[in-house]
Amino acid sequence: MKVLGIETSCDETGVAVYDTALGGARGLVAQAVYSQIELHAQYGGVVPELASRDHVRKTLPLVHQTLDEAGIAPGEIGGVAYTAGPGLVGALLVGAGVARSLAWALDVPAIGVHHMEGHLLAPLMQDEAPPEPPFVALLVSGGHTQLVHVEAIGRYRLLGETLDDAAGEAFDKTAKLMGLPYPGGPQLAALAQQGTPGRFHFARPMIDRPGLDFSFSGLKTQVLLAWRDSDQSDATRADIARGFEDAVVDTLAIKCERALEAAGCDTLIVAGGVGANRRLREKLHVMTTARGGRVAFPPPALCTDNGAMIAFAGALRLEAGQRQGLEIGVVPRWDMATLPAV
Ligand code: KG4
Ligand code: ZN
Repeated sequence: MKVLGIETSCDETGVAVYDTALGGARGLVAQAVYSQIELHAQYGGVVPELASRDHVRKTLPLVHQTLDEAGIAPGEIGGVAYTAGPGLVGALLVGAGVARSLAWALDVPAIGVHHMEGHLLAPLMQDEAPPEPPFVALLVSGGHTQLVHVEAIGRYRLLGETLDDAAGEAFDKTAKLMGLPYPGGPQLAALAQQGTPGRFHFARPMIDRPGLDFSFSGLKTQVLLAWRDSDQSDATRADIARGFEDAVVDTLAIKCERALEAAGCDTLIVAGGVGANRRLREKLHVMTTARGGRVAFPPPALCTDNGAMIAFAGALRLEAGQRQGLEIGVVPRWDMATLPAV
C-alpha cells in the first residue's frame, strides 16, 4: 500500500509517500518539505495565524508536486495519513482538512497520526536491522523533551520529560540572546563546532536528583549572565555556544543512560530536531556502545519535521486496520500514552 503523509503541525509543510510493499528506507518513494522559516524570521518566532495561512497556500500544491515528481498517480494512493496533533490548532486543521478530503475523494482510508509518534518511529525506517521494541526513545524537538519506554509500537510509557523549556527551545532561546537569527538552534550548534571546550562551564541541570525529568530554562539564564559580562566577541560567542552545547548534550546522555537502566533496555532511539545535533549523536553512540547496546537515529533530514515520518507511522496503523472516521479531527494537546496499541 502506498500511503500519502501530510505534516502541518507547526512551521513546516511536509508531504511524502511511503510504500509498505518496499518497506525500510526504500519504502520512502517520494518526499518534499516546505519550510516557513523566512516567513516567521522577522518576528523571531512562529506566528500561528501566519503559519495556518501559509499551510493553506502550500499543502495541496506540494501534494501535487510530490506525486508528479515521483511519477505516482493519485489513484495509486491506498491511504492518507496526517498529523492530528499535538501542534498549533489552525495549522493542524489545514493538514487534516486537506488529508481527510483527499481520502474521501480517492475513496481510501484516512488516519490521524500523533506527531511525536511520527518522530519516534522515524529511526525504524531503515533497511538494515531496524531497532525492535522494547527500547527507550529520547524525543528532543522544539516543543518536547521526553524519555519514553517503548514496550511495543503504540505502547508508550513516559519515563521523564522537561519541566520547563524543551531542549530545542533552549537552543533557540540561547541563540537568540546571543544575537543569532531565528531559528538559532542549528546555527548555535554550528558555532559550537568552532568554540573552545572548557572555557565556559555551565551546570548540568537536575543530574544530582533522582528521576528522569529535565529542566533547561536555568541554563539559558547562566548563558545570559556569561554573555552579558563578556567582551561579546565572535570567539567568545562560539566558546559560550560550545559550553552550552556540552551542558545540554551531557545532561541528555546522563539521563538516557539512567533511562536505559530503569527500563532494562540496551537500545536507544533518538528523534526530533535536536537529534540532528552532531555532538549528541557522537556522545550517545559512545555511551550505548560502552554498555554493549546501540543507538539509532533517523538521517538528519528526517530528524526535523517532515511528511515521511507521518506517512510511515500512518502506514503501520492503517496496516493494522485502524481508521479515522469522516470527521476532520485534530488534538492540539495529546498524551502519547493514550494511543491505541498497533
Ligand atoms: O522536531 P522539530 O523540527 O520541530 C518540532 O516538532 O519542534 O525540531 C526543531 C528544533 C528547533 O528547536 C531547532 O533549533 C532544533 O530542533 N535543532 C537543533 C539542531 N537542528 C535542529 N538543535 C541543536 N542542534 C541541531 N543541529
Ligand atoms: Zn516535530
